[in-house]
Amino acid sequence: MPTTEEPLRLLLLAGSARSGALSARLRDAARHAADAAGASTSVLDLRALALPLYDADFEVAQGVPAGVRSLRDAIVAHDALLIVTPEYNGFPTPLVINAFDWLSRLQAEGKLPSGLATTAGKPAGLLASSPGPLGGLRAMNFLRQYLQMAFAMLVVPQQYALGRANEAFDDTGALKDPKAAQAVAGAVGALLRVAAALRAA
Ligand SMILES: Cc1cc2nc3c(=O)[nH]c(=O)nc-3n(C[C@H](O)[C@H](O)[C@H](O)COP(=O)(O)O)c2cc1C
Repeated sequence: MPTTEEPLRLLLLAGSARSGALSARLRDAARHAADAAGASTSVLDLRALALPLYDADFEVAQGVPAGVRSLRDAIVAHDALLIVTPEYNGFPTPLVINAFDWLSRLQAEGKLPSGLATTAGKPAGLLASSPGPLGGLRAMNFLRQYLQMAFAMLVVPQQYALGRANEAFDDTGALKDPKAAQAVAGAVGALLRVAAALRAA
């Protein structure tokens, strides 16, 4: 366990892995805010986990794919999780849902916790992005429900959906609108405060 002197460890995930993904750009802006707040940050590329679409026959024949253990281990190694989701038809992307559905299938292995034990009580923060005006708000709220109800995560109330995300970033990747930057920093800050309180508890 880290001492109280060690920086909080924040894992950041984006719900799209395509090149130029707006959610990845917002993830990077959130990472910048977390770094500025003194956190130790890491990014996990969900595509790199190489998870097939969940299929019970696959699971029986081949077991849980290795990428699921990588996701479990990454969550274990961090104090908090920040997910930036795009919105597909009002819902989070399959990249996110499939990864967490797989995670829920991972059983405890020796001293290594099950997927669900890994997420239980772990603080999570949510951001969303979309070229549309609502910024993926509907998807973000479904993701909140999914993570709270099925994974027992402590999803902090502060969240932010970045609308018109295709116009929101300057050439350096920073958010052009100071209010948007403040909202992202606010959501990140709230998440880090909860993680700090849990570490101290
Ligand atoms: C299958 C599909 C469904 C979509 N549905 C929505 C939607 O419900 N709301 C929305 O704001 N944008 C929607 N979009 C547009 C995405 O917000 C847009 O493609 C966005 O750039 C994807 O996120 P990314 O840039 O992080 O890859 C949809 C896109 C796809 C491919």
